[in-house]
Amino acid sequence: MDDNKVLRLIHAAGLHEAELVATVAELGLAEVARILIDEVLFRAAVPHNHYPVVVQLTIAHEGRRVDSQLRAVGGKPWELLPVAAADQLVAMRIDYEALDLIRAVFGPGEERSVGYRTTSLLPSGSAAALTSDDQRMNYLGAATQAVQSILAACTRGRPDLGELATRYHSDKYGLLHWFTPHYERHLAGLRDEPVRVLEIGIGGYNSAFGGGSLKMWKHYFHRGLVFGMDIYDKSHLDEQRIVTIQGDQSDPDSLTEIAERHGPFDVIIDDGSHINEHVRTSFRVLLAHLRRGGFYVIEDLWTSYQPGYGGDPDPQSAAGTSLALLKDLMDSLHYEERPPGQERELVYSDLHVGGVHVYHNIAFIEKKLNAEGGIPPWVPR
Ligand SMILES: C[S@@+](CC[C@H](N)C(=O)[O-])C[C@H]1O[C@@H](n2cnc3c(N)ncnc32)[C@H](O)[C@@H]1O
Repeated sequence: MDDNKVLRLIHAAGLHEAELVATVAELGLAEVARILIDEVLFRAAVPHNHYPVVVQLTIAHEGRRVDSQLRAVGGKPWELLPVAAADQLVAMRIDYEALDLIRAVFGPGEERSVGYRTTSLLPSGSAAALTSDDQRMNYLGAATQAVQSILAACTRGRPDLGELATRYHSDKYGLLHWFTPHYERHLAGLRDEPVRVLEIGIGGYNSAFGGGSLKMWKHYFHRGLVFGMDIYDKSHLDEQRIVTIQGDQSDPDSLTEIAERHGPFDVIIDDGSHINEHVRTSFRVLLAHLRRGGFYVIEDLWTSYQPGYGGDPDPQSAAGTSLALLKDLMDSLHYEERPPGQERELVYSDLHVGGVHVYHNIAFIEKKLNAEGGIPPWVPR
């Protein structure tokens, strides 16, 4: 999947109108419409209307237009009808000027919904097919649900991360883990940024399943590009703004190659093997490929206590665990406070870790410049 075009559109969505117009001219209206429809169908909630409904989305620019008919039937994914069928009963026609829809879907700044589009109820097809009052009421009830789902998907929206984890079947919230409120606390400030997220561990192991969290990040970061790395080939999960990479997180060379090709990253998440040595290797290699102000997240710290993952049930004596790494980072944070004569050779994390936030089973490490200067020698001690 070539994401260059969508990245250009996302970038232009944050620029001046003249630059956005130039980008649309370069990419062509048909390609812009294809990217937007792909995104809208991804964001639209799975329909639950029991009665089939067609919604028409029209994207116009400089006298030309692209019409797309989108069909919803309860329980099935939204479908883009191959050819606009003239005799379809269209519940709602939604008209956007391309620039407004690009900014609504990919832009930062104000939410662009009402006041940026026109809507027409039952614009075409034969409403006479709805013969009885019961049929009309059923149809309009179904149409309301379907139309609202497309209208919501035409904006960036602000779905809660817990809701997105549930929608896309990631285990980051509910049942096993309760991580998403912690993610919200630390990542909300990046939500409107064109971030690059790398997650180690796509899910599903050697099966067709997985990718839940990648979809969750794609939806949450509406301007972001999401990379998933897994020891298994998960390329069947590639789609617009999601790139899968096969690699082993215990192999420093493979991590470096991936990071040099796709980084620097704004967020790196380790939800891979959870083997303590692997967690430490990945952190040691990848911290250098996180941009300043970004977050490195380590999930499933419980394996620090499990010998089966290279952990140790006695946390005081354990040196090679994920929790021991976090404790070392506390020392890194305070390297400037070592008494004269007790200094040690500086390591990368001394200068580049600015915060360590630890919660039950998950840690957020903040990359910052850590060089404030120690407490001066004349302060009594
Ligand atoms: C817990 S699942 C990830 C779940 C996913 N992040 C989510 O939240 O939906 C762990 C994944 O890590 C992968 N994995 C295991 N060992 C690995 C390794 N050494 N390097 C990279 N990925 C690995 C597995 O194949 C599995 O798909």
